[in-house]
Amino acid sequence: MPSIFDEIIDRRNSGSAKWNYFDADVIPAWVADMDFRSAQPILQALHQAVDHGVFGYHLDSKPLREILVKRMADRYNWQVKIGDFMFTPNLVSVLNFVVKAFTETGDNVLMTTPVYPPFISAPPNSDRIANMVDMTVVQNGQEIRYELDFDAFEAAINPRTKLFILCNPHNPVGRMWSRAELERMAEICLRHNVLICSDEIHCDLIMDGGKHVPMASLSPEVAERTITIMSPSKTFNIPALGLAFVVAQNETLYKTLEKSMMGFLPHVGTPGYAAAEAAYSECQPWVSELLPYLKGNRDFLIDYVQKHFPLVRYTKPEATYLGWLDWSAMNLPGESPFKFFLDNARVAFGDGIGFGEAGRGFTRVNYGTNRALLTDILERTRAAVERL
Ligand SMILES: Cc1ncc(COP(=O)(O)O)c(C=O)c1O
Repeated sequence: MPSIFDEIIDRRNSGSAKWNYFDADVIPAWVADMDFRSAQPILQALHQAVDHGVFGYHLDSKPLREILVKRMADRYNWQVKIGDFMFTPNLVSVLNFVVKAFTETGDNVLMTTPVYPPFISAPPNSDRIANMVDMTVVQNGQEIRYELDFDAFEAAINPRTKLFILCNPHNPVGRMWSRAELERMAEICLRHNVLICSDEIHCDLIMDGGKHVPMASLSPEVAERTITIMSPSKTFNIPALGLAFVVAQNETLYKTLEKSMMGFLPHVGTPGYAAAEAAYSECQPWVSELLPYLKGNRDFLIDYVQKHFPLVRYTKPEATYLGWLDWSAMNLPGESPFKFFLDNARVAFGDGIGFGEAGRGFTRVNYGTNRALLTDILERTRAAVERL
């Protein structure tokens, strides 16, 4: 039976970054947005706002706060108070403000690599040092899985390490961290007095069942030392609508972060609130259809790699819609697999090296698209390799 996600929507003339950054003959599989139309309740909420017709400053965040208090309790068994939320237009700026507000020039910011590139650039943006700990790769046939070497993680902490930025679930390796893994990370950070900032933007894109565990939900002690950032933008495919949120249950952390942003970060507008309220209160049926489609794409990608690229290693993402392929054993010509496929397949993957040195030889594949386009991406990729 066809799925609503099979629909091919022309995005080239919609101002899309994903579709217009590269030349017109290039198929994009890089930046993390999906080629899917938003769920009907989001569109209706936006239509309603447009029909009202007045776009002044927005103040009332209470309805969304109430929705989120209930959501955090129902989905993650996480008790958050209505005043613990702070709304921002996006998440990457919060990451940068957290670095600025809670560390000093020359301090170290810990992260586990390969990781989402803005993690790596946030510390140097404020003259801090990115302290990267490469995760361990466990291989089984062509499949690889990333794990954290806790001894290496702890050994990387030095007296100037003040902050750990965690990606939970982890982009680009697709790991959903288990409660036990999170507990060990938290225990180490608390023992060394390292503050935690947990980016949980991918927390509702879980492929094989299982429950997302917010870092701050582990215990009141961990919550006291954690700033969480979340957003409806990935799950509901609405990054252009500009609403993300922070959860800070420690009042001092909340006030310090809020002060650091004041006057620098714009307020969230009516479309962001309207879309987020609709997404979180009415769009779970849409997500329930989306997840099996994404899982089907993930399995299609893996199957294709197994059949046609026996030397390529792949992850099996537990969360996100981002595949992660290691082309190193193929010794592709040119400066990187990313460049090889851009030039020869006219496909733009994410360039592995952007995710840290541990990403050299890899490409990230955004499979949040219709199956026909994913097939085209893979066929172009295979043809380019076969022409060698
Ligand atoms: C881990 C992670 N954090 C943040 C973002 C971007 O968030 P925003 O667009 O709200 O800045 C992304 C987008 O891909 C991401 O993967």
